[in-house]
Amino acid sequence: MENGMPRVMYVLRDGSRQQVEAPPGVTVMKAALDSGVVGIDAECGGCLTCATCHVYVDPDWVSRLAEPTEEERIMVDCAIDVRPNSRLSCQIPLTDALDGLVIEIPATQT
Ligand code: FES
Repeated sequence: MENGMPRVMYVLRDGSRQQVEAPPGVTVMKAALDSGVVGIDAECGGCLTCATCHVYVDPDWVSRLAEPTEEERIMVDCAIDVRPNSRLSCQIPLTDALDGLVIEIPATQT
């Protein structure tokens, strides 16, 4: 990163990619909503009550994220097709260290 904002690469359901930039502190969910990334609905607005912000974190990045809270663990289990790299994107704030983060949108989210 060259004095820019952290970038997130969203891998969409059709396999295409959409790169988004957002300031540190903005969540992966909010960055997607603000840029019209399709497949993150975030019905609860980040209150940890909907699980419609479910995403898969690229395996290379999983260990670089902060551990999910117990509340996130419980809620992510409500999502469809949960995998070991499932996270709720409203619980992942961007940081400079996450520049280049790769996030896959689940095929089940419309
Ligand atoms: Fe509802 Fe993340 S936006 S749980």
